[in-house]
Amino acid sequence: MAFLKVEDLKVHFPIKGGLFGRTLDYVRAVDGVSFSLEKGKTYGLVGESGSGKSTTGRAIIGLNHITDGVITFEDKPVTLAKTAKSEARKDIQMIFQDPYSSLNPKKRVLDIVAEPLRNFEKLSKKEERIRVQELLELVGLSPESILKYPHEFSGGQRQRIGIARAVALKPKLIIADEPVSALDVSVQAQVLNFMKEIQNELDLTYLFISHDLGVIKHMCDHIGIMYKGRFVEEGTAKEIFEQPQHIYTKRLVAAIPEIDPSKRGELKRFRDEVNKEYEQAYNDYFDTEGLAYALKPITDTHLVALPEKG
Ligand SMILES: Nc1ncnc2c1ncn2[C@@H]1O[C@H](COP(=O)(O)OP(=O)(O)OP(=O)(O)O)[C@@H](O)[C@H]1O
Ligand SMILES: [Mg+2]
Repeated sequence: MAFLKVEDLKVHFPIKGGLFGRTLDYVRAVDGVSFSLEKGKTYGLVGESGSGKSTTGRAIIGLNHITDGVITFEDKPVTLAKTAKSEARKDIQMIFQDPYSSLNPKKRVLDIVAEPLRNFEKLSKKEERIRVQELLELVGLSPESILKYPHEFSGGQRQRIGIARAVALKPKLIIADEPVSALDVSVQAQVLNFMKEIQNELDLTYLFISHDLGVIKHMCDHIGIMYKGRFVEEGTAKEIFEQPQHIYTKRLVAAIPEIDPSKRGELKRFRDEVNKEYEQAYNDYFDTEGLAYALKPITDTHLVALPEKG
């Protein structure tokens, strides 16, 4: 059984204009993306702003229409979720970038974390309170937190509240869309490590979205690199970081800061080489519209977008 399978996904948004609001063109936010995700693993989607990462994630959870292609979760097609109570919304949950704006500031933590429970389970007030306190304990917050409001917490703590809420219904898949980008670097590692801990404990599978390849390196087993709605490369973490093939991937890998001073010389050589290749060979990697070619396998797991003749 395939856990999550995305096949040739396209999500286009109409651009309307003119006197009659006609559709003039489309934003091809996602334009032919395929990948699959195994249970218990973490798949990373990485790419620059506007490359279509969030749109892909939102389509998987049923928040975006699908223009073309098929998404199946546990072999069942995912359809547009009409309400927060749609079944797919139970097994697949989302963690968002900015824990402040994604948590209603006027609600207490109790109500924020209990909201998904209220949509799907009939619990008494007392049962609900106990469940929420257990969830808060799981994410390392005190039981008294239930009476507080989001502004009374630090950024890292707020993201823990967002995580408590996301795991409340024991989901199978979590789509984490830039979950640490709004946090201080010192807090990022804590939240990432915590997400890894609960992954085993709660038997979670992650689709991890980030523009930060360093964060992706820390978290992911498999990685898909997006550029303008398409994949330029896909592979295991080892393949992407040790054998990047596409110039776009190489540039991302070369941009990761090196902490180990003894490796900085090597990184500088790699950067110079990549910059030179980018200037000289850009046209070998992108079509005449500046878009990625279709992916072609170079190993069982490693695919690269290169033109037909190779
Ligand atoms: N609802 C929408 N209507 C119209 N265009 C949209 C809509 N949602 C996204 N887009 C466009 O689709 C493209 C991809 O957006 P998306 O949010 O998926 O990118 P992203 O990779 O998540 O970027 P970021 O790193 O900035 O979050 C962008 O050009 C965006 O403007
Ligand atoms: Mg996004």
